[in-house]
Amino acid sequence: MHSVCFSPCAVLVVCVSYVSAYSCDCSGSCLASTTTGNYLGVRDSDGVHFLSIRYAKPPVESLRFADPVPFVPSQNVTYDASSLPPFCIQYTTYQSEDCLFLNVFRPEYSENERPLPVMFWIHGGSLLVGGTPDPTIYGANLAKAKNMIVVTVQYRLGLLGLFDDGYNTNFAVKDVILALKWVKKNIGKFNGDPSLITIAGQSSGGTMIRALMSTIQTVGIFTRAILMSDPMGYGFNKRSTSVNLITGMIYNATGCSDISCMRGLSLTDILNAQGAVVSNGPGTYPEINYAQPFSPVIDKTLIMNDFSTYVERGNLPIQVPMVVGTVADEGNSQVEDVVSSPVSVAYYPIILTEFLGAKRAALLLATQQFLPDPLKDDSTRLELAFVGKLFYWTCAVQRMALSYFSNMRKMVYIYETEAGITYPANADLSLCQAKYVCHESDIEPLFGTYNASAVTRAQIAVSQEIQERWYQFIKTGNPNSGSYAYWKPLRSTLKLNLLKIGKSKVVSKLYPDKCSLIFGRVVKFDYQLYSQ
Ligand SMILES: *[C@@H]1O[C@H](CO)[C@@H](O)[C@H](O)[C@H]1NC(C)=O
Ligand SMILES: *[C@@H]1O[C@H](CO)[C@@H](O)[C@H](O)[C@H]1NC(C)=O
Ligand SMILES: *[C@@H]1O[C@H](CO)[C@@H](O)[C@H](O)[C@H]1NC(C)=O
Repeated sequence: MHSVCFSPCAVLVVCVSYVSAYSCDCSGSCLASTTTGNYLGVRDSDGVHFLSIRYAKPPVESLRFADPVPFVPSQNVTYDASSLPPFCIQYTTYQSEDCLFLNVFRPEYSENERPLPVMFWIHGGSLLVGGTPDPTIYGANLAKAKNMIVVTVQYRLGLLGLFDDGYNTNFAVKDVILALKWVKKNIGKFNGDPSLITIAGQSSGGTMIRALMSTIQTVGIFTRAILMSDPMGYGFNKRSTSVNLITGMIYNATGCSDISCMRGLSLTDILNAQGAVVSNGPGTYPEINYAQPFSPVIDKTLIMNDFSTYVERGNLPIQVPMVVGTVADEGNSQVEDVVSSPVSVAYYPIILTEFLGAKRAALLLATQQFLPDPLKDDSTRLELAFVGKLFYWTCAVQRMALSYFSNMRKMVYIYETEAGITYPANADLSLCQAKYVCHESDIEPLFGTYNASAVTRAQIAVSQEIQERWYQFIKTGNPNSGSYAYWKPLRSTLKLNLLKIGKSKVVSKLYPDKCSLIFGRVVKFDYQLYSQ
């Protein structure tokens, strides 16, 4: 039995004892004992946080390009868990190759508390950037608002995470699996419920979830999954793409021809070689995709097939209830990144060809359904953004969800978010102003990390709705609550039961003809062409 105090300490100190969870003293620090060491976290008015818990040994030197190994704590050492870890290696300042950490956020303990449900968050960033120091995914607000545990995790990025020498790869995916196993084993030490873990992620975090569901290594660990704005038009990399093309380019750029040479490279050399693939790979080889050139690999060891192949055959290794959806203007920021100001409609076929390749662009143009209107402002970019939205996100997600239900009879709730809060990095984009709901505009609403003086009541209401529905889904599997519009799982092409978040309504169809007749049929998704 530990003697535990919880407070507001300064005002009133109540001491209670309980067994087998963390303990807090009244100075603002809390101690948790885990399989990877004792961690001294912090408590403040938002709850209790254990930051920078090591779940794996530093993946450096001989462990670079190797499977992650559980961290073994030094005896009698209590690790500081009061600040966020550095980012994994990318183009930023606060970064380190020694980056395999996770953070546990929980609300203040309440007497007789029952074990709390857990949301395990996998950040996005094209598997190239991002990480848990990003203030928009700081978990404390959400943990407090919904009385649940929020875990945020880091995994190796880019070349360090997905290098493939032909023998071993998928280090990034294995990092997340090891972190999940850590949570399963240790979350009880924070009074979390190890039988109620939901994995959730945005963008490439959703792609990572597809990988986690495509391997038997995660059997029995998580109960549900939430995939937000996953670009499902992209599949995993085939081994031939990964080894012959991507590693081929890497070897050309570094002068290396094996893993031991690669282990000796400086981080600058690693980033430069990675940069060569990111900037030249997709233009040179259509198999290498633009958004996530370093993607999970169908290595026939960890992952035997592309997620879509499994879903279409009805034999996905992990079949759990899902929430899956997109935002209203997924494509806008991507288009503006490439085309920074309005251009004439004459450029439309040229840019479309750049995005889809000549063959698919021609097929799409021949449908006559996606043509910019020369009389409307900025219509070239807006039409490109609309195509991008349907092609990479909305129609690909719809097709997957329909197969997920019809081939495996599993529950899948589908949504589109029509109101959000512009993500800080998109704030200057003209196509992400006020009326647009860009990629990432649902992150601050979910985490409650927006600037409260800079949002409208309607935006706050959307944030509350997302938090409440996600929480209910995580806790019970049913994302309904109170007076919110009643949301049922998908049933068929004619009964998507798609929730329009921000509009408080459920619709039965969304772009039915474009999604069922054009994308995936006439104009094939990347995963249909390059991941089978
Ligand atoms: C660990 O700490 C205990 C108590 O302070 C001490 O008796 C023991 O020798 C320490 N062990 C090591 C390996 O330092
Ligand atoms: C590597 O460089 C050689 C020589 O320039 C070239 O022929 C080859 O295509 C390159 N490999 C890849 C995968 O780009
Ligand atoms: C929050 O928004 C208000 C109103 O727009 C602004 O004045 C303030 O500087 C913002 N605070 C932060 C921390 O960005």
